[in-house]
Amino acid sequence: MTSAASQIESQTESLTITRPDDWHVHLRDNPLLPHTVAATAATFARAIVMPNLAPPVTTVELAEGYYQRIVQALPTGMSFEPLMVLYLTADTSPQEIAAAAAHPHVHAVKLYPAGATTNSAYGVRDPDAIDHLYAALEENDLPLLMHGEVIDPAVDIFDRERVFIERHLLRIREKFPALRMVLEHITTGDAVQFVLSQPKNTAATITPQHLMLNRNDLLAGGIRPHNYCLPILKRRTHQEALRQVITTNDARFFLGTDSAPHAQHAKETACGCAGCYSAPAALAFYATVFEECGALQHLEAFASHHGPDFYRLPRNTETVTLVRQPQTIPEAVDAYGTRIIPWQAGGTIPWSLA
Ligand code: DOR
Ligand code: ZN
Repeated sequence: MTSAASQIESQTESLTITRPDDWHVHLRDNPLLPHTVAATAATFARAIVMPNLAPPVTTVELAEGYYQRIVQALPTGMSFEPLMVLYLTADTSPQEIAAAAAHPHVHAVKLYPAGATTNSAYGVRDPDAIDHLYAALEENDLPLLMHGEVIDPAVDIFDRERVFIERHLLRIREKFPALRMVLEHITTGDAVQFVLSQPKNTAATITPQHLMLNRNDLLAGGIRPHNYCLPILKRRTHQEALRQVITTNDARFFLGTDSAPHAQHAKETACGCAGCYSAPAALAFYATVFEECGALQHLEAFASHHGPDFYRLPRNTETVTLVRQPQTIPEAVDAYGTRIIPWQAGGTIPWSLA
């Protein structure tokens, strides 16, 4: 007799799960919104929407305006709820954090170390200099989302996540024990170990690219700008640590695509932007990885249960169905005049959304 797990591996031709949410996505702004919102809403019921617009979404008022633009961009007949996030700066006031916590559309604040990534120039220079804001978040029970990389140019880009944990996160975590934190788009075994060493109010999101690729896929045999994202892909042992932890069904780890579209010309250039546009096939990418890891039975919890439980939101009641039907990722998509190369363009994966 085969085990239940191996039956799933060998026999599953279709998989129906609770409709998932994306706990980290970049939808950008108009004129791209009708495209990006439709792409995400085709799969996900809700998404934590990153606030790194130019200028960034630093106030509740800006977040509500952005929320309205997203809702207006949603095609008729689709359902989707954007979960808004405030962009933290050194000038954010504790009052703004209290107002955010009280606002029905705002669900978190985001810490970008200044200069760490796209549109992070207004971010925080010293993550150890804003303890009054962590205190306000803890008091108002509003989750803190972190781009966990140091910006110290002396630190090698492949070490920036580990050093962020050592230099800042351990201290912040210890000083604000009740603060709910998400270390976003984790890329290293160090981040996995950090999260595992903490109580349940420390969580992490994991992207499809960090599960499916390592830095060889970025740099070996030619440079691949469409695999360039931040935090940067790490060596294979770190990829394996991420692939291992998703097989454990630990509630502290959940889906966050970090789908981050850029125009083709901004990626394929001498100094290209970071970001992988994975939204259109995101769930099929995760299904592919979970199956490769022998953990398809845990996909639903990762994609649809752990996130809402952490954010204290109800789990979705609709379902989506994945079918074992190969899909080839288009070579390019036209987003209302902006040509975008989707992540894994031209590649084929075994799963499709029914
Ligand atoms: O690769 C990335 N792209 N990482 C980020 O942190 C930001 C994102 C973007 O906004 O393009
Ligand atoms: Zn992101």
